[in-house]
Amino acid sequence: MKLERGVFAPAAVDVDRVRADFPILAERVNGRPLVYLDNGATTQKPRVVIDALASYYEHDNANVHRGVHTLSRRATDAYDAARVTVQRFVNAASPDEIVFVRGTTEAINLVAFSHARPRLVPGDEIVVTAMEHHSNIVPWQLTCEATGAKLVVIPIDDTGALRMDRAEELIGPRTRVVAVTHVSNALGSIVPVARIVELAHRHGAVVLVDGAQAVSHVAVDVQALGCDFYAFSGHKIFGPTGIGVLWGRAPLLAAMPPWQGGGDMIRTVAFEKTTYADPPFRFEAGTPDIAGAIGLAVALDYVAGIGLDAIAAHEEHLLADATQRLLAIPGLTIVGTAVDKASIVSFTVDGIHPHDIGTVLDQEGVAIRAGHHCAMPVMKRFGISGTARASFALYNSRADVDALAAGIESARRLFA
Ligand code: ALA
Repeated sequence: MKLERGVFAPAAVDVDRVRADFPILAERVNGRPLVYLDNGATTQKPRVVIDALASYYEHDNANVHRGVHTLSRRATDAYDAARVTVQRFVNAASPDEIVFVRGTTEAINLVAFSHARPRLVPGDEIVVTAMEHHSNIVPWQLTCEATGAKLVVIPIDDTGALRMDRAEELIGPRTRVVAVTHVSNALGSIVPVARIVELAHRHGAVVLVDGAQAVSHVAVDVQALGCDFYAFSGHKIFGPTGIGVLWGRAPLLAAMPPWQGGGDMIRTVAFEKTTYADPPFRFEAGTPDIAGAIGLAVALDYVAGIGLDAIAAHEEHLLADATQRLLAIPGLTIVGTAVDKASIVSFTVDGIHPHDIGTVLDQEGVAIRAGHHCAMPVMKRFGISGTARASFALYNSRADVDALAAGIESARRLFA
């Protein structure tokens, strides 16, 4: 990607207009205008999402699928409509394939607990990649401990790209589950999911995709990807915290036992025998995050209104601009230089601890993340303890890149 700074002017996203939709972007932090570059950790919320949450609690709040009264019907209708919005957003075949969960972590644990544990036996293999977030490693390690299955790891190359040659060797007849991230949170690398799916399905394995870092950057069509499960969190796509989505193919969900018992997930309850509801309700025991689901649907509509192609084009320019600016800083190394990459720039600067970079940037109003990014194996692979990470979203601008570069120069003046 070679873009001159001068040609940075994609008309696709009107950044000023978009920024005006996000009240928090008008905040000042440490006396400076906020420059929010920690979108990999969580994204900010547009006014429409904040208003939807307030409006729900002010006008419609009631429990769902339980009451005959008007508010309960309104809440139920809005909650069910949110499921349809999610279905359309990821192009699922049916809203019944959309399970509301707390977030990506819960979605992966649900699949590990309810799909994998009952099926796997000693000698079976679960394949992950070397760039997974801990949430797509630890549930599978627990599954291996419980079943005697073995965890197999596809390595990454020096750019942070997945070694597809190794994937072809490691996904084999013993593979039962392949769990891969769509976009690496620590490196930005985009995994060629469709090719992984092809390899896994050749051997009859199911594929779970961790879409936490992907959904706000690339258009996700679960049917086109061909995977079997897709997980993402609402808060990483401008929605509320506490709500997330597991999409699963209907026959797979139908064959999965419940994993939590309680109200709303049953058909009949008797002390002798209880029968369970069909998916998705089988997996949604207890009162769900109704407001969260409604807020998520509004967030997805907001993103769809701008268009993921436009967002991706805008972020591609931001990534190119940031890469070019940062590489001009002496002693700075970008960790994660895969050709196919989302708008995440992880970096180290000689002689400065990533936390110190983060602290100096914070003094200048620039929010980034520093550390291992819940991806300790990635850090080990590159022989470092952590990185500083700037992660961009649709509301970031070239001025934000300038502030980032200026902040790193300040850190160098102080520490290097
Ligand atoms: N997984 C989130 C991140 O990468 C929290 O920052």
